[in-house]
Amino acid sequence: MMQLSTVAELNGALDPLRGHERIAFVPTMGNLHEGHLSLVRRAREQAERVIVSIFVNPLQFGAGEDFGSYPRTLARDAELLAVEGVDWLFAPGVEVMYPRPQAEQTRVVVPDISDILCGAARPGHFEGVATVVCKLFNMVRPDVALFGQKDYQQLLVIRRMVEDLAMPVQVFGVPTVREADGLAMSSRNGYLDAEQRRRAPALYRVLCDTAAGLAAGESPVALERTAAQAIDVAGLRSDYLVIRRQADLTVPRPGDSELVILAAAWLGKTRLIDNLEVRLSSPLV
Ligand code: PAJ
Repeated sequence: MMQLSTVAELNGALDPLRGHERIAFVPTMGNLHEGHLSLVRRAREQAERVIVSIFVNPLQFGAGEDFGSYPRTLARDAELLAVEGVDWLFAPGVEVMYPRPQAEQTRVVVPDISDILCGAARPGHFEGVATVVCKLFNMVRPDVALFGQKDYQQLLVIRRMVEDLAMPVQVFGVPTVREADGLAMSSRNGYLDAEQRRRAPALYRVLCDTAAGLAAGESPVALERTAAQAIDVAGLRSDYLVIRRQADLTVPRPGDSELVILAAAWLGKTRLIDNLEVRLSSPLV
């Protein structure tokens, strides 16, 4: 596996292949786990060549968030990617991605969908994500790009950006990889102490219970209330638990059957997110 850190190196490696071989791209912030590696494996099925980026993007962290302490484990990550047969690791420094002061950086805004749920809790977050992903797409120019359904809203923001700006890339969503007890894998799980780690799987259990309630015909509004309480009873602090339409995360209407339950909750200073898609056999009345 070749490690690249500048755009010149990137072009030198990828330009000779463009037009001949398909290139699949997996953007990450590193500290890789099985969730990331499942994207890499899916990428290998999609294209002859696979490139992974590792860049902890300052633009998507708010003031007081964990940009400084975000786990940076580049040497270990590179070993994991080499084992997976990745062709290139692109790990640019911040001066490559953002040569100008942040305030002067051109940004990509995906309205509406960026402002709700995680976007409401983390103002500017999805603008930072859309901007860095747009820039990475322009640098890498992949045929396909893969994102995890674990970050459901992020996946929809990227899909919307690609559609609205006619970006020539195909976006694939990949199912969430979980620990044996159901906890969605995340680089931030490493922040949890033993007691918090024991409580954390409650988030997924509540999603599953809520999905069962929906399948049994219970009202989404009542289920949202019960579920948020169940999260708090389990020793987490619920930020949101909502049932939305899969397509655009708006509130479900009668006749809808493609739903997603999305949740965010705090365990101490760590914010966990998770979601579960539900397809109802009889649509909402
Ligand atoms: P990061 O959190 O490193 O995640 C990189 C990719 O891995 C994202 O598409 C994410 O949804 C996916 N992923 C994370 N945990 C997963 C799991 N348990 N199962 C399946 N996929 C999982 O998301 C980001 O980085 C950044 O916002 C980024 C898109 C790289 C832009 O900076």
